[in-house]
Amino acid sequence: MKFIDQVELKGKTVFLRSDLNVPLDDDLNITDDNRIKASLPTIEHILNKGGKLVLSCHLGRPGGKAVKELSLKPVASRLEELIGKKVNLAPECIGPEVDRLKSELTQGEILLLENIRFEAGETKNDPSFAKELSKDIDIFVNDAFGTAHRSHASTVGIVEHVETKAGGFTLKDEIEYFDKCFKNPSSPLVAIFGGAKVSSKLGAILNVAKRADVILIGGAMANTFFAAKGLGVGKSLHEPELLAQARETEEELKRQGCELVIPSDLIVAKEFSESAETRVSPIDQIAEDEMAMDIGPDTLSHYSKIIDTASTVVWNGPMGVLEMDPFAQGTFGIVDALCKAKALTVVGGGDTDLALHKKHAFDKVDYVSTGGGAFLVLLEGKTLSAVEALK
Ligand code: 3PG
Repeated sequence: MKFIDQVELKGKTVFLRSDLNVPLDDDLNITDDNRIKASLPTIEHILNKGGKLVLSCHLGRPGGKAVKELSLKPVASRLEELIGKKVNLAPECIGPEVDRLKSELTQGEILLLENIRFEAGETKNDPSFAKELSKDIDIFVNDAFGTAHRSHASTVGIVEHVETKAGGFTLKDEIEYFDKCFKNPSSPLVAIFGGAKVSSKLGAILNVAKRADVILIGGAMANTFFAAKGLGVGKSLHEPELLAQARETEEELKRQGCELVIPSDLIVAKEFSESAETRVSPIDQIAEDEMAMDIGPDTLSHYSKIIDTASTVVWNGPMGVLEMDPFAQGTFGIVDALCKAKALTVVGGGDTDLALHKKHAFDKVDYVSTGGGAFLVLLEGKTLSAVEALK
């Protein structure tokens, strides 16, 4: 597979698929521009090398029709500020007006196509839409790691209509860091899994166990492991239908020689509220009317010690209810432990990134993946369709 630094760009019209899918508040202000910043090296490389840049991305899930609130206007403005260059936003992503704008592009100029998911053909990977996207394009570059698990027209379908194709620098970094963690990890490799549902992470846990020495579990998914041991979890979020699978997972990890560590204590509360009264509870003493909201201090201290001795740490998913301060402390503690760790530290997943932001720790870990779903697909040991398409 080729990357962008191996391709001659001068005078060429380059279709770049980036992941600029950033969160917006109610006033359409960008609340986290990390994905735009992460895309800059590839964008700037194309412009500096004399490419004519046709940039494409999605924002949210408009469902194949134009939705005013999901226009790329805020993305265009922010990108303009960051690169210090005019970003011309096309009204659509295909059609006569776009053809005209493409034909007028000169070297080092940038045309941003409107939200690609305003077109129904995008998520259906419609062949005629993909062909239309490729019109007058010399080179296809995919830098959108966040959508690399999607077989869409702008990530997969377009590839067969363009002769030269390459991955961007974000894609390259993501693949390189993933390989460092899993293909040739420096041991001990510690993986941390958190978040609400064990059902969404079982595949990843089982696959990562093939390489990891220790897996630390936190978040509501730990409750399913408690219940699988016959412990009462009160009103805590858990998945009763997965108890057998949780037990099998523990057995499988034992067979693999990977230690599965679950919390020993918790922060519990009777209400799902920031002002709820809380107490620290051992895992076998959650009352009928209580909910587990975060890992407890003993667990945090134990997990921090394990992280301290690791050579590689990969983390996905919060340890508690991150949006409520009293229940975010376990997750913040893990952020602190990662920041102090001597290990190679790689973090992925929307909520986990948010925790880093809240603790101003974004630059204190080695790598923060730009992908949520795509990162998980890699952890599951599966391939990414958009990466395969570039090969
Ligand atoms: C993400 O936010 O994880 C990516 O941009 C992919 O978005 P999607 O889940 O809507 O495809």
